[in-house]
Amino acid sequence: MSMLLAHQIFIIFLQIQLFNCLPQGAPVSTCDSLMPIHGGGIPALRTSPLFQIVLQSDVIGQTQPLLIEINSGIADLAMKGFIIQARTLNGQQIGSFTSYPDEFAKTIDCGNGIANTVTHANTKPKRSIGLAWKAPDNFIGDIIFNSTIAQDYDKFWVGVMSSPVRVVREIQTVQNTISTTRSPLQPTYIFTNSGIKNNSEPQDEIYRDCGFSKTCFGVPNDCIKTKSCSSFIAVKVEGDKYVFEMRSQSKAAYIATGLSTDDKMGDDSVVECVNESGSIKAYTSWTTVGGGKFDSSRNGIAQNIVNLREGKLENGMIYCQVERPRLTTINSQVFDLSKNEYYLLIASGSELKPFGVGYHDITRAASSSALNLAEVSLIAAKSKILLQVHMYLMALAWIGTTSIGIILARYFKTTWKGSSMCGKDLWFAWHQLLMTLTLVLSTAAFIIIFVELRGWSTANNPHAILGTITMCLCFIQAFIGFTRPSPGSRNRKLFNWVHWFCGNAAHIFAIVTIFASATLEKAELPSNLVDLLLVIYVAIHVIIHILLSLFGCMSERKEAQKVTSFQMTEMNQSRMLATMKQDSPYSAFRKTILGIYILVIIAVVATLLTLITIAPTKDIEFSLV
Ligand SMILES: *[C@@H]1O[C@H](CO)[C@@H](O)[C@H](O)[C@H]1NC(C)=O
Ligand SMILES: *[C@@H]1O[C@H](CO)[C@@H](O)[C@H](O)[C@H]1NC(C)=O
Ligand SMILES: *[C@@H]1O[C@H](CO)[C@@H](O)[C@H](O)[C@H]1NC(C)=O
Repeated sequence: MSMLLAHQIFIIFLQIQLFNCLPQGAPVSTCDSLMPIHGGGIPALRTSPLFQIVLQSDVIGQTQPLLIEINSGIADLAMKGFIIQARTLNGQQIGSFTSYPDEFAKTIDCGNGIANTVTHANTKPKRSIGLAWKAPDNFIGDIIFNSTIAQDYDKFWVGVMSSPVRVVREIQTVQNTISTTRSPLQPTYIFTNSGIKNNSEPQDEIYRDCGFSKTCFGVPNDCIKTKSCSSFIAVKVEGDKYVFEMRSQSKAAYIATGLSTDDKMGDDSVVECVNESGSIKAYTSWTTVGGGKFDSSRNGIAQNIVNLREGKLENGMIYCQVERPRLTTINSQVFDLSKNEYYLLIASGSELKPFGVGYHDITRAASSSALNLAEVSLIAAKSKILLQVHMYLMALAWIGTTSIGIILARYFKTTWKGSSMCGKDLWFAWHQLLMTLTLVLSTAAFIIIFVELRGWSTANNPHAILGTITMCLCFIQAFIGFTRPSPGSRNRKLFNWVHWFCGNAAHIFAIVTIFASATLEKAELPSNLVDLLLVIYVAIHVIIHILLSLFGCMSERKEAQKVTSFQMTEMNQSRMLATMKQDSPYSAFRKTILGIYILVIIAVVATLLTLITIAPTKDIEFSLV
C-alpha cells in the first residue's frame, strides 16, 4: 500500500515538476533551456540519447504540415516524458503543432507563440509520439526541432535535436526528377527532387546538398550532376538571409549573380565576387541598357546591401559566399526574394574595369525559367539553341544561297548551254533551287525567332524591323517568281524588272539586317569581327558583279560580231543552231570567277557559323594595318 502511494506521489510530483512549463507563466527557463525542474537537480544524461526525432522530410512547403515522430530505435523502450518545440537557427520558438495524440500529450505556449511546444500529458510509457507541425504564414527558412526526452524521472536527455528542416514556399518538382519516398513515416505527399545528397567524391563539397537544401545553377548544362561546372552558383535560405555561393573557373577575375525579372541583361541587381589583387571582395551593381549597349556598374548603388561571408581563391578559382537580405530596394525596384520569382543570371569574365567588372567573356547564362529562390531546385540554363539555329539559317540563306542564286541568274543565262536539269536550263534550275532554299531557310528562321522570343523583340535595335521587311520582300519575290509569264508574253519585261528589283532589295535589306544583328546583345557576337566579315563579303560581291558585267559586255560584243559574220557568210540553218547551243564567249573565265566566288561565300558562311557557335566572344582586338 505504501509502495503504491509512494508511486502515486512520485507520478504527481513528476507531472508537476517535470517540464514545468504551464500556459500561464511557464517558466521561461524551461521553454528556453528545455531543462526539467527536477527536485534535487538531477543532471541530464550525457550519453547519446536512446530516443530520436524522425522527420518525414527535411524540406517542407510552407503550407504543409510536417509529420514528425519521437521514438526509440530500441524495441519496447518507452519514454515517460518529453518536451519538444521547433526553433529557428537563432533559437527562437516557431510555428505550432497542429496534431498530437491527446491521450499522451498536450500543447503549451512558449514565448509569444501559441501551441508551439508539445509536452507529455501524463507519464504513461509511450513507445512513440507522432506529431504534426506547421510553419507560421510567410516563414521561409531553416528550422530544427529541439527536445528533452525522459526515459524516467532520473534518466533524461536535454537538447535532443532533429536534423534541420528547410521551409520553402512550395515543394517543387524539379527537372530530371528521381522520386524519393522518405521513410519511416508514411508521407502525405511524395517529395521529388534530383538532389545530390551523397557526395561520393569528397574533394568537391560545393555540389553537396544541391537540390536538397540549396538551389544550384551551373554552366555548362547538366554539370551539377557530373560535378564539373566551370561556373557555379547556389542559393541557400537562412531565415531572412539568402546566401549566394559562387565559384568561377580559374582564369576568371570575377563571378557574378544577377537577379532579373526577365532572362536578359538590363535592370538587374547583381552581386559580384571580384578578385582584387588576390583578395576577394563582394559588390552590388546594376545592369543598364542604353543605345543598344549593355553595361554593369556600381555607380550609385549602395555597397552595404550584401555581406561577404567567405571569400577565397581556391586552386586559382574564386570562391565566395555572400549574404543578401530577403528584402532590398535597389534603384527604387523592390527585390523580395521569398515572394517574387527571378531569373538567375550567371556571369564571369577575365577583366575588371574601374568601379565595375569587365565583359562576361567566360560565362554568361540565364536560368531557363524564373524561380522563387525560397524553393530548392536545380536549374538548367536557358538553351540558346533556337537563337543559334535562327542565326545559322539566316546566314546560310542570305549570304550563302541568295548570293550565288543572284549571280547565276544575272550572268550565267548563256553558260552551260545544252545541258539541262529536269528539262530546265541549268542556270535556271540552280537559281530556282537556291532561291527556294533561301525561302525555306529564312521562313524557318523567322518562325523560330518568334518562338524563341515569344513575340516581338524588345531589343532597341532595327534588326527586327529590317528582318520583317526582308521577309515580306522575300515572300513577294517568291510569289512573283512562281507566276513568271512565258518568254513571249507582254508582261515579261515588267516581270523581269520587278523580279530583279524585289530580289535585290530583299538581299540588300537582309545584309543590312545581319549587320544590325552584330550589335544585338542577345546574339553575343564579336561585332567588329562580324562587321569586318560582312564588309569583305559585300566588297567581293560588288567586285564579282563588276567583273562579270565587264565580261558580259565583252561577250555580247563578240556575239554581235559573230551574228554579223553569220549574216555575211549565210551559213546554213543547222550550223547556226549548233553555234547557238554553244556557250557565249569568255565562259571559261566566268565559270572560274563563279568558282572563286562560291569558295569565298563558303568561307564567309563557315566563319560566321563558327562565330555563332563559339559565342559569346569578346570583341577581338585587331587592326587592319
Ligand atoms: C537545444 O537545446 C539545448 C538545451 O537547451 C541547447 O543547448 C541547444 O543550443 C538547443 N539548440 C537549438 C538549435 O536551439
Ligand atoms: C556515400 O556513397 C559512398 C560510395 O557510393 C558510400 O560508401 C557512403 O557510405 C555513402 N555515404 C552515405 C552517408 O550514405
Ligand atoms: C587574382 O589577382 C591576383 C593579383 O592581381 C593575380 O595574381 C591572380 O592571378 C588573380 N587570380 C585569378 C584567379 O584571377
